[in-house]
Amino acid sequence: MCGIVAAVAERNVQGILLEGLKRLEYRGYDSAGMAILTNEGRLERQRAAGKVAALEACLDASPLVGSVGIAHTRWATHGKPTEHNAHPHQSGDSLAVVHNGIIENFEMLKTELEGQGYAFTSQTDTEVIAHLVGREFTLGQDLLASVQRVLATLDGAYALGVVHRGEPDTLIGARKGSPLVVGVGIEEAFLASDPLALLQVTDRFIYLQEGDVVRLRRGGSIEIFDAAGQLVERPIQVFEHGDGAASKGEYRHFMLKEIYEQPQVIAATLEGRLGERSALIESFGNGAEQLLSKVKQVHIVACGTSYHAGLVARYWLEQYAGIPTQVEVASEFRYRRVVVPENTLFVTLSQSGETADTLAALRFARELGYLGSLAICNVPGSSLVRESDLTLMTQAGPEIGVASTKAFTTQLVALMLLTLGLGKVNDMDEARQAEIVTALRGLPTVMGRVLGLDGDIEALSMAFAEKHHALFLGRGAHFPIALEGALKLKEISYIHAEAYPAGELKHGPLALVDSEMPVISVAPNDALLDKLKSNLQEVRARGGELYVFADESVGLENAEGLHVLRLPYIDEALAPILYTLPLQLLSYHVAVLKGTDVDQPRNLAKSVTVE
Ligand code: G6P
Repeated sequence: MCGIVAAVAERNVQGILLEGLKRLEYRGYDSAGMAILTNEGRLERQRAAGKVAALEACLDASPLVGSVGIAHTRWATHGKPTEHNAHPHQSGDSLAVVHNGIIENFEMLKTELEGQGYAFTSQTDTEVIAHLVGREFTLGQDLLASVQRVLATLDGAYALGVVHRGEPDTLIGARKGSPLVVGVGIEEAFLASDPLALLQVTDRFIYLQEGDVVRLRRGGSIEIFDAAGQLVERPIQVFEHGDGAASKGEYRHFMLKEIYEQPQVIAATLEGRLGERSALIESFGNGAEQLLSKVKQVHIVACGTSYHAGLVARYWLEQYAGIPTQVEVASEFRYRRVVVPENTLFVTLSQSGETADTLAALRFARELGYLGSLAICNVPGSSLVRESDLTLMTQAGPEIGVASTKAFTTQLVALMLLTLGLGKVNDMDEARQAEIVTALRGLPTVMGRVLGLDGDIEALSMAFAEKHHALFLGRGAHFPIALEGALKLKEISYIHAEAYPAGELKHGPLALVDSEMPVISVAPNDALLDKLKSNLQEVRARGGELYVFADESVGLENAEGLHVLRLPYIDEALAPILYTLPLQLLSYHVAVLKGTDVDQPRNLAKSVTVE
């Protein structure tokens, strides 16, 4: 949610900042801007409404030249996505600031500043930070002290980058509630919301912690101060995924690349975590065995696609491990009175590890007497990972497409590992554990075969491009997969899609079924297959057009109004993971046919670090 990139270098930084913005565009893409301290001592800025390409055109016409600068790509919260509201915001012609997050007390601060004669040129909450820091600086503080004093007066969340003409060799960064990393170069230093933005200049990063303020200076000096203002050391971590993670390679879109990466990242997520016949609980981290052996209940909290992974896990944890499980969206959980039974494990699921509601739910849960917390997360060093007792990292690698794909299926794999881990300490049938372990080992290969059906799925997608609505059906653990299929379709193709447990069809949605309403169903060969088949007959009898992704052995044949795509056999425990793939591909191809912006769908952002 909003991307920040900034640099103090020994060369002109415009190109570095622009490339960084392009790589961060998945975080927000309604306007962008850059401010640079020029070699002549001026502060110059360019901003543009729209995508980073619009800013690039402005910079082509009128380049910015200097070695210290800040840049931003925005996902609007306060104020429309216009040039005036685009960051950086300035105080006079001396100071510029970029901000990710929300300043909750900005109205009060703005009134105070207006009373002192400060003029505002935007509707953003960020502009108050510019004036407040500018005011402190004129009182004789250095830039670091000015920022630190202002931070003490701000309520809300922020990641910041600040430069001032009066200290032309300095860049200040700060984080509280929004991510910010320091990129460590050779006699150069950088800031960004995400390491991906800086992989073209470094692979060494310092993940700032809550309340940290950092001063970067020419020559590569990096000083980090904690929330109490003490100078602290933070470890430098090497980014392992390589620069390829930030490029589409041979694929037309990041989303397609990420769909195709699934067999490989699932194998990586399983690596070292499976024994011969059961999961290796010790591989879940220090103290995992001790914690899991006490668990009697599980509460799972997440948002968006991650929430759907949690819904699948409820079926698994109850069926295989016998552990009562509840799943809830984080924005609801955090604001209600929650009753926590004894020995309940609190589990958060998040690709980014920075989603504001999920993080707030974890902090709220800490007060509620849970047995402990486990984060299933894809970003090492993220807030969720740092603040949880135990973490199970998914190894999806950076996910750039706003619509989540590989992060979801790797979360499911991690949740199956958790199920097996809890099953192991709760007398789950050993033979069944061993069967699922074997099926997990073979999963990447079977997924590869499903990806081989891409051409057939693309052909099916033609029937959807002109439709305005779609209905997704599933039963059991495939109901959440239907929910995820519907979410994918609406996110990237803007077709209204809903999902129902197939048994609920006759309680309402059947009224909507006609030839204009395609109905998509997943039909693995499981215990509910016969019931699902009856539900499908109900659709056909009303003239509905059915698209069924079915196990090759279920005996459903193509017929009028019935389009069947056969998937290879998979152990029913893992079918939800496999059946996700055709639904991802279907949405992808429908979106491509409709010509929407697949990787950056309108109004959405990848990392939602505001409430
Ligand atoms: C946003 C993204 C979704 C994602 C959700 C939760 O809405 O667009 O794709 O599922 O946030 O994100 P998280 O990083 O917590 O999994």
